[in-house]
Amino acid sequence: MTILALETSCDETSAAVVRDGWVLSSAVSSQIKLHAEYGGVVPELAAREHLRNLIPVVQTALREAKIGRADLPVSQGAQQHVPADLELDAVAATQGPGLPMALLVGFKAAQSIAFALRKPFVGINHHEAHLYSPWIRSIASSHEPGSAGVPPARMELAGETPALPATSPAARLRGGNVGGIFFADFTAFQPNVSLIVSGGHTMLVKVDSELKHRVLGSTVDDAAGECFDKTGKLMGLPYPAGPEIDRLSEQGNPKAHDFPRPLLNDPGDDFSFSGLKTSVRYFLRDHPALPDNAQHLRDLCASVQAAIVEVLVKKTIRAAKRNHVRCVTASGGVTCNRALRRELAHACECEGFVLRLAEKSLCTDNAAMIGILAERKLLANIAPTSLDEEIKPGWVLA
Ligand code: KG4
Ligand code: ZN
Repeated sequence: MTILALETSCDETSAAVVRDGWVLSSAVSSQIKLHAEYGGVVPELAAREHLRNLIPVVQTALREAKIGRADLPVSQGAQQHVPADLELDAVAATQGPGLPMALLVGFKAAQSIAFALRKPFVGINHHEAHLYSPWIRSIASSHEPGSAGVPPARMELAGETPALPATSPAARLRGGNVGGIFFADFTAFQPNVSLIVSGGHTMLVKVDSELKHRVLGSTVDDAAGECFDKTGKLMGLPYPAGPEIDRLSEQGNPKAHDFPRPLLNDPGDDFSFSGLKTSVRYFLRDHPALPDNAQHLRDLCASVQAAIVEVLVKKTIRAAKRNHVRCVTASGGVTCNRALRRELAHACECEGFVLRLAEKSLCTDNAAMIGILAERKLLANIAPTSLDEEIKPGWVLA
């Protein structure tokens, strides 16, 4: 089954083609630089950028996946360079949650393509797609020497990995900006507790089986990524501050300052990060010159990061124990954070849990995870989404 998927819920315009679990192509155009000027995502600008970028991004994804001429909604000139190897069987897009005007661009474009091609359409919950993204694993990185076009040895060694689609030699499986060869390995699936942690959301979900899950808790105020970004802004760091705090923290002392760990000792699975942000605000009010000293700034970053990471790791492990699962997964932009990856790995090793972290390039928003989930839903005979349906900006994962 070959699916074209679009994702435009926030500030990344992304298109991907997936086929039988393989990510044939995945193109992502990030708007981070545009929004950095304003210190956060400006919805109107995001929508305008999606409109501008969507067609080139879709063209890139289709071209890389060698989608057949008949299916290619591009100009005559471009069509002539594309051999008709594969045809689309379905089209998918993020339906929610997200910024309404941003969602509209990808969702309506995908519905239109599905209508024009007379193919089924699947509207996807963005959080649900994050939830299953840790099962998409990298078979090889296209940046690894010798990997271009040649299925790496690791692929043959992995007994459970089905053969590459015959029509798609590995040379074609190198995805747009994502870079790498990715395969959704659901044969290894086991019940798990999943941490979804990004700029817009922080939640813990119990996943019983494929497509069957229940939210255990979520943030009652700010998301963890928002806490990184807002405390970083207070320190004078550029948006988004998460990656910068991660970088500076590597040479900082996480014990330099003792910031609160909100709801850490609360028995429930909810999170709260706005108190931590306020505490950093008061700290900087009392020590305004501190960020001017490079080492003091690194220590401050490491201390804030340590507070966020400790809460995320301890609450995730506690939820996994309470729910009697043997597996922990994590996804979403903040899962790129090196301290979080290290601490989760350490805690899971101590407790004997299997840990599956989403690949770094698939942690942030991407259409590959949307396409993979759409394929699982169609394979499970879940009915396609009507072309009359609208976006669901406030769609809450149950
Ligand atoms: O998943 P994502 O791309 O978009 C949302 O759905 O929000 O996540 C973006 C968030 C931002 O808050 C960004 O600061 C954070 O992920 N982030 C990080 C790191 N990389 C991205 N936070 C901490 N450390 C990182 N390395
Ligand atoms: Zn996201």
